[in-house]
Amino acid sequence: MPHQVDEEKALAEVFIAQPHRPSIAQAINADTKDLHDTINVRVVKKFELGLNDYRLYRQGVISFYHVYEAFERTWAKLLANPAGVPPHIYAALQALADPRLSRTPQIAADLEYFYGAEGFDPKRAPDTPQRKAVVDYIEKNLTEKPHLLLAYAHIYYMALFAGGKILVRMMLAKKDFFPVHKPAGSYEEAQKFGTNMFLFPVDKGKEEGLRNKFKDAMCEVEGALTEAEKTEIIKEAREIYFWNDRLVDELEKICEPMVVPLVIERGHVIFKEHQTKFIIFGTFLLFCLFYYCAH
Ligand code: HEM
Repeated sequence: MPHQVDEEKALAEVFIAQPHRPSIAQAINADTKDLHDTINVRVVKKFELGLNDYRLYRQGVISFYHVYEAFERTWAKLLANPAGVPPHIYAALQALADPRLSRTPQIAADLEYFYGAEGFDPKRAPDTPQRKAVVDYIEKNLTEKPHLLLAYAHIYYMALFAGGKILVRMMLAKKDFFPVHKPAGSYEEAQKFGTNMFLFPVDKGKEEGLRNKFKDAMCEVEGALTEAEKTEIIKEAREIYFWNDRLVDELEKICEPMVVPLVIERGHVIFKEHQTKFIIFGTFLLFCLFYYCAH
């Protein structure tokens, strides 16, 4: 405990002592840079694996669906109950709320598409230990300390405008990744049905405007925060990355046993699709072998 108090004091001092104080968003980014660099590499690796089969990809999406769902639902609950939130925090939560950023319906739409006839229920409870734990943690922590929502909103929304852009480009460049089924009538439509998470309801090229609006709102609201609240928000940002790590650890365990059967199944499908070519090529090889042996 004394160690924790010292750490919080040191953080507060760094934050207060700077002559040109960074904004809270900059302070979060600086303080989590090491953790971001690690998760960045891990997520890209997992993402590349997920791009081999959408059934692996959708497992990753589910884990993060629960995170967005938990903090956005708690946010809405706090806004619906002004009496339970300090007025300066209530005003901050109101100023930052922008329905265009809201990801729960968007991610649910992606999952509904990827699950297709198998069915995805957006109201379903988290079904793994880490998914359950992160949802419980978010609900409890944000209800007790609503100012921590600033860390969640900054990290999870800004992530989509930065790394998210790269990931969606990789996804769209991957051949034969999206399953084509109803309501999509073509591969291009399937791409649209499966990438809502990364798309914001603004005109093409105006995403930066939405991102900047959020960043400006963060700068405006931080003036009303106490130093203790700012320190806790920055501290919570690191905690968020630890949770991301736990979710990715768990994803590794979920996906590992799925990989081999999926590769075999995919190989079988490819063989069936190109059966004639395989037979012709095989016959040709056999012919060459006989010819070589005979001479
Ligand atoms: C759970 C995973 C991740 C989280 C929570 C996360 C979060 C963030 C946040 C909060 C920022 C700061 C954005 C801003 O202030 O505008 C950021 C920046 C960035 N992220 Fe990530 N990120 C994640 C994964 C990734 C991945 C997988 C990539 C690469 C594909 C990536 C690439 C970047 C880049 C290029 C920047 C911009 C850096 C800069 O402008 O200095 N991130 N990320």
